[in-house]
Amino acid sequence: MTKTSSRLDKIRPSVTLAVTQKAQELRSRGVDVISFSAGEPDFATPGHIVEAAKTALDKGMTRYTPVAGIPDLRQAVAAQSEEVRSVSCKPEQVIITVGAKHALFGFFQAVLDPGDQVVIPTPYWVSYPDQVLLAGGEPVFSRTTAKNNWTLTPQDLEKIAGPKTKAVVINTPSNPTGALYSREATEAITEKALSMGLWIITDEIYRDLIYDGARHVSPLSVASDGGARVFVVDGVSKTFAMTGWRIGWGIGDPDVIKAMSKIQGQSTSNPASMAQAAALAAITTPADFLPEWLREYRDRRDVMVQGLDAMPGVECVTPKGAFYVLPDVSAVLERMGGDVTDVDLATLLLEKAQVAIVPGSAFGAPGHLRFSYATSMDAIEAGIIRVGETLAKL
Ligand SMILES: Cc1ncc(COP(=O)(O)O)c(C=O)c1O
Repeated sequence: MTKTSSRLDKIRPSVTLAVTQKAQELRSRGVDVISFSAGEPDFATPGHIVEAAKTALDKGMTRYTPVAGIPDLRQAVAAQSEEVRSVSCKPEQVIITVGAKHALFGFFQAVLDPGDQVVIPTPYWVSYPDQVLLAGGEPVFSRTTAKNNWTLTPQDLEKIAGPKTKAVVINTPSNPTGALYSREATEAITEKALSMGLWIITDEIYRDLIYDGARHVSPLSVASDGGARVFVVDGVSKTFAMTGWRIGWGIGDPDVIKAMSKIQGQSTSNPASMAQAAALAAITTPADFLPEWLREYRDRRDVMVQGLDAMPGVECVTPKGAFYVLPDVSAVLERMGGDVTDVDLATLLLEKAQVAIVPGSAFGAPGHLRFSYATSMDAIEAGIIRVGETLAKL
C-alpha cells in the first residue's frame, strides 16, 4: 500500500458521511432505507437565491474573486453580524470561506502551533478533533451531560485546561445534541475562557434554527473585552438550505483573518464566485420562508422525540435547536448484553430495520445514537415505527 503522509495517521474519515454513503449504496441496490443520518436540510435552496447565482453567471461573474471574498459579501456579513450580535464589525474582520468547515480549518491552521491544546466539549461535531490534529494541535475533551443541558461550565474548563491550552470550541445550538446554551451559561463560559487567555471559537452555523421561543446568544455579544479573542464561524449552509454551495465565513481579529487569507490564497484561492453572489442574496433578502421551515422542523422534532421516548430503554431530552436528537440508548445496549456498542446497534438498525442512524461514538458520545430530523414527516413516522419494532425484539 502507498505510504501517505504521517500527518494523516491520526485522522479519521467522517463517520457521518460514511453512514450516509452506506445508506445510499443500499438504496441504489433497491433496499428501502429510511435515513436519519442527514446533516443537511431537506428543503430546496429558495428560488430567489438560485436566481441570484444565475444572474451573476449571466453577467459574467465567472472569474477569480478576491481571496477573502467579494467586498459586497464581506460588507454584508459584517453588517449582519453587527445586527445579530450587537458588536461592531468591519469587513476586514470577515473572511468568506468554502463552507463553515473551511473557516474552522483555516482558523486552526492560522492560530495553532505544534502541541497547542484545544478544549472540545463532548459530544462534539465530528470535524473539530481531526481539524485540530491536522493543524498539529492536540484536542482535549471535556465531557458534558444531558442532565446539564450538554453545557461546558467554567469548572469543567478550569479542570481540563493547562498551560498548553490555547482555545475552546463552543457550538450552540449543537450538532449532535441540538442543545442551546442559555445566556447565563454563555456568559459564564465566555468570561472564564477570556480570563484564562484562551481563544473562544464559537460555531454558530445553526443559530437560526431554534424553537420554542428560545434565543441564541453569541459569546461575541457577551465578551467583556469586546470580542478580541472570539472567533465566530457562520454561513449559509443550514439556514438557507445551501450546503452544496459551500459558502461560510469566519469573523474575528483582522490579523487572524489576514493569516487565514494567506492560507486560503495558497489553497482554494477563493470560494466560487457565483456561490458568493447567491450567499449575498441570501443574507440581504428577508428570509420569508424561514418561519414555515422552523414550524416544520419543530413538528418533526416533536414527533421524533415522542416516538423515541416511548421506546423502553431510550432516553431523550427535547433539543431546542438544530435538527438533531441524541437519545441515550445505554439501557438498550445493556439489555443486549456484554460488550454491545452503539456502533453495533446502529449497524443492526441499518441491516434489520433499514434505518440509517449515526452512532454516538462518532461524536465522542458512546451509548447514544444521533437521529437527524432533516427529512420528511412521513419518513420520520415510518422510521420510528421500524426502530421501535426492531428494538422491542432485542
Ligand atoms: C456544527 C457544524 N459546524 C460546521 C458545519 C459545516 O458547515 P458547512 O457545510 O458550511 O461547511 C457543520 C455541518 O454539518 C456542522 O454541523
